[in-house]
Amino acid sequence: MQAQSQVAFDPSQGTAETVLSVDNLHKSFGALEVLKGISLEAHKGDVISILGSSGSGKSTFLRCLNLLETPSTGDIRLKGEPVFSSKDPKFSTKRDRGLTARQRSRMPMVFQGFNLWSHMTILQNVMAAPSKVLNRPAHEVEELAMSVLERVGIANKRDMYPSQLSGGQQQRAAIARALAMKPTLILFDEPTSALDPELVGEVLRVMRKLAEEHVTMLVVTHEMNFARDVSTKVVFLHQGLVEEEGTPDEVFGSPKSQRCREFLSTTSY
Ligand SMILES: Nc1ncnc2c1ncn2[C@@H]1O[C@H](COP(=O)(O)OP(=O)(O)OP(=O)(O)O)[C@@H](O)[C@H]1O
Ligand SMILES: [Mg+2]
Repeated sequence: MQAQSQVAFDPSQGTAETVLSVDNLHKSFGALEVLKGISLEAHKGDVISILGSSGSGKSTFLRCLNLLETPSTGDIRLKGEPVFSSKDPKFSTKRDRGLTARQRSRMPMVFQGFNLWSHMTILQNVMAAPSKVLNRPAHEVEELAMSVLERVGIANKRDMYPSQLSGGQQQRAAIARALAMKPTLILFDEPTSALDPELVGEVLRVMRKLAEEHVTMLVVTHEMNFARDVSTKVVFLHQGLVEEEGTPDEVFGSPKSQRCREFLSTTSY
């Protein structure tokens, strides 16, 4: 792991550093086992699209990575450091809240419903977490917040409240909030599903730009064109297991699993 982390990112060589490794992740809600042993690796600059029908466990998987749900068993590592390990109480049953907050900030999540604070301006929304977690002086955090708002194209909305923005702008603010954490990886759970069709494009454009900048992303999406054109890897989940994974060409061009073929054939793109 250590040696790998010194290798510069070069997608053509496939030598990028391993950023996230998930090993045999299980999650049950009571008697219902939703995740049945998911293993996954993301390398620096990867954009991994996670596909699957409703109820297959996509959101639960992301929520476990972000520790919004506590996995039942398994192992999650970010840049080699444990995030969750059912074998180590410090990273499972006995974890402290400070550790959880720090780890979340390294792997923030962008939700379908934006989840911005309605009583804060856009700038305050973006500054809130870095002010708390990164422990930097206010003027530095404000500079950082403005730079990420510029990156997503809404710096001019800094003093507006979320309700004064369109859905697409709110989602871009949520992406800026994630970027402000200088994250190792960003998780997206259907970031465009709550948007009016005419607003989907502006959010996807921002995500494409981040992909070009080699921001590592895990994206649960029903946007098949995005998955096919932007991803480095596509993962198809079925009933809590990885049923198929590969490059977009492999998964879209010649899926091995019957279920994946059926899923793709019923999805228009
Ligand atoms: N907190 C919870 N308590 C009990 N069951 C849950 C909970 N969260 C999710 N589930 C169940 O876990 C299963 C997987 O749900 P999940 O939300 O992960 O699916 P999904 O793949 O994201 O679906 P969708 O495409 O509809 O968003 C479903 O059967 C769901 O009812
Ligand atoms: Mg979901």
